[in-house]
Amino acid sequence: MTIDPRLSADAPASPLPENGLFLTDVWAGLGAARKTLPAKYFYDAAGSALFEQITVLPEYYPTRTELRILDERGPEIAAHLPEGAALVEFGSGSTVKLRRLLRHLPGLSAYVPVDVSAEFLHEQAEVLRADFPDLPIEPVAADFTRPFALPPRLSGRPLAGFFPGSTIGNFEPAEAARLLDGFGRILGEGATLIVGVDLVKDRDVLEAAYDDAAGVTAAFNLNLLHRINRELHGDIDLDSFHHRAVFNEAESRIEMHLVSRVAQTIHVAGRAFAFAEGESIHTENSCKYTIASFRALATRAGWSVLEAWTDADGLFSVHALRRS
Ligand code: AVJ
Repeated sequence: MTIDPRLSADAPASPLPENGLFLTDVWAGLGAARKTLPAKYFYDAAGSALFEQITVLPEYYPTRTELRILDERGPEIAAHLPEGAALVEFGSGSTVKLRRLLRHLPGLSAYVPVDVSAEFLHEQAEVLRADFPDLPIEPVAADFTRPFALPPRLSGRPLAGFFPGSTIGNFEPAEAARLLDGFGRILGEGATLIVGVDLVKDRDVLEAAYDDAAGVTAAFNLNLLHRINRELHGDIDLDSFHHRAVFNEAESRIEMHLVSRVAQTIHVAGRAFAFAEGESIHTENSCKYTIASFRALATRAGWSVLEAWTDADGLFSVHALRRS
């Protein structure tokens, strides 16, 4: 468990600094003319469990489609990774997707999961060590949206990055380009990056994927308000908001909103926020690309295109890029 000391020094020593940031972000978001909340706060314990449920919903095609692409195209994907490479996964979360890729990567010299949640990171590393005893695992507790250092013992090794799940979609294109460029700076010239990217498709399919019949995505969205009540002394009546998912075609993104059913004032840690009837909090963007539009973004961000794979229905894509 080698963690760069500069990173562990940065990690919060208690939950308080985290909460401080959460409160700052919530106050700023709810105080804005168009109310927003950062999507990264969905993932407390309840939110992570709800997201796991989302990934197996009949309407939510991305996870199962990406897994199928990784299974079927694994050997082709693996061919773009140099022998002896260390694989850095940005925002590692659960290891389901990584495991699919690992069976095609016998020559990997190390796996470097990067995640902000140090506890989850080390738990997952232990589980993976038990299943892959010969693979050195070097977790790094860091926020992948900011520069961080890789463990020094990896220096000199060929590097590859793995960023599955269309997490890239949570960032608006300009931010996404900055993020991809940041990955390039961390991995260095010549590195390979494997990215999962959700594709543009019919509005009905997209909107159903983010507003499922069982209401799991609605619960996932509303859990953010529950979290605010619990962690930030909020007084929000959850029944007074409803979930809305809409495809914004001009911006090529699914937007999730929490819409106030009534005119009301809510309080968060003593500060009041007024809502008009029908006013919404924009809680998530999930940007959708074409193969070509994603390639253009990656190229702007300092990567060259190697190859892309998609499923038979063209729902989802996996891209291999090289840092140039
Ligand atoms: C984890 C960001 C890829 O955008 O599809 C799923 C999150 N939100 N359902 C996505 C999500 C609602 C998901 N990502």
